[in-house]
Amino acid sequence: MTDLDLAGKRVLIREDLNVPIDDGRITSELRILAALPTLKLALEKGAAVMVTSHHGRPKEGQWSQADSLAPVAQRLSELLAIEVPLIKDWVGGVEVKPGQLVLLENCRMNVGEGKDDEALSRQYAALCDVFVMDAFGTAHRAQASTHGAIRFAKVAAGGPLLMAELDALAKALEHPARPLLAIVAGSKVSTKLELLSSLVSKVDQLIVGGGIANTFIAAMGHSVGKSLVEPDLIDTAKQIMADAKARGADIPVPTDVVVAPKFAADAPATVKAVDAVDAEDMILDIGPDTAARYAELIKNAGTVVWNGPVGVFEFDAFGHGTETLARAIAASKAFSIAGGGDTLAAVDKYGIADEVSYISTGGGAFLEFLEGKELPAVTALKQRAG
Ligand code: 3PG
Repeated sequence: MTDLDLAGKRVLIREDLNVPIDDGRITSELRILAALPTLKLALEKGAAVMVTSHHGRPKEGQWSQADSLAPVAQRLSELLAIEVPLIKDWVGGVEVKPGQLVLLENCRMNVGEGKDDEALSRQYAALCDVFVMDAFGTAHRAQASTHGAIRFAKVAAGGPLLMAELDALAKALEHPARPLLAIVAGSKVSTKLELLSSLVSKVDQLIVGGGIANTFIAAMGHSVGKSLVEPDLIDTAKQIMADAKARGADIPVPTDVVVAPKFAADAPATVKAVDAVDAEDMILDIGPDTAARYAELIKNAGTVVWNGPVGVFEFDAFGHGTETLARAIAASKAFSIAGGGDTLAAVDKYGIADEVSYISTGGGAFLEFLEGKELPAVTALKQRAG
């Protein structure tokens, strides 16, 4: 898009403005702020700008207040300092003049959006002279407003945000400064199995955290008490460790952990050696020695990819591990990239957003890229580019 002459052209931009909204109030505007430079650029270039996005997963063919983009239109008006009307029925045609910007109501309310319907994709394409795909966060979905519109638009281009995301991810994974260290945490190995299997063939160190680490701790032969664990995946965890070892990579496991008798903000926190966890204990964080050891690895890394908090950081008593790692990333000279909803909440909580080299707006798309999967919208753009 950056190279295109957009003066006087009708430009339809797909953004991912799927921001959390609580009772009409936007609780994180990261995705709006990330899209802003693209929208400003299109206006500066003299385009008549239409912006489309989904919000949530509403039922197609029905309007719902909860998934309306009205709060986003309001916020965009403030940030761009121009009026940003929200257009409700827009598939058949949109009135917009050069220098104006309109937000189109949630595209997932249109029948056919989710199944990448060709007729709907063609209708989207017919609205514009140029279609710009800028929604990295939705690039893993083959839907009418992503993959479909790219196929049928007169001209289709990648937007600056999408390009920046792909560049940052390529820098981290395709030609990383080494050592390349990844932090993968979350409640279950099963939901991140593809990610772990893919990263283990690329990284020099793989730090696992949260419930995922418990399964690895169990694979080392230690008791994890009442902690969240997936017994069926203990052999898989052993295999991942063996694969890492075979290529000289390291999966460090905790030597100490923070335990509590129950999952609660006010539960008493006790630090224990990893081989001293009792039957009644729940592991809710890594211990201070482990956190310090991991921080040292981060300090010496060339690249850090971070997805997932290593403890229950929402409860302050169990946030020390995540905070230590967050601060180590902030202080490290490594190229660092963070993505995923919980990770960004941790970045926010510890105030390190400015110190992370790149914060991805993608959740599922970020994970799928890390897993080495093709993102359908990116593939479609490449096909259009020949
Ligand atoms: C996200 O929040 O990850 C993206 O906006 C995609 O949303 P989806 O999972 O509902 O497609």
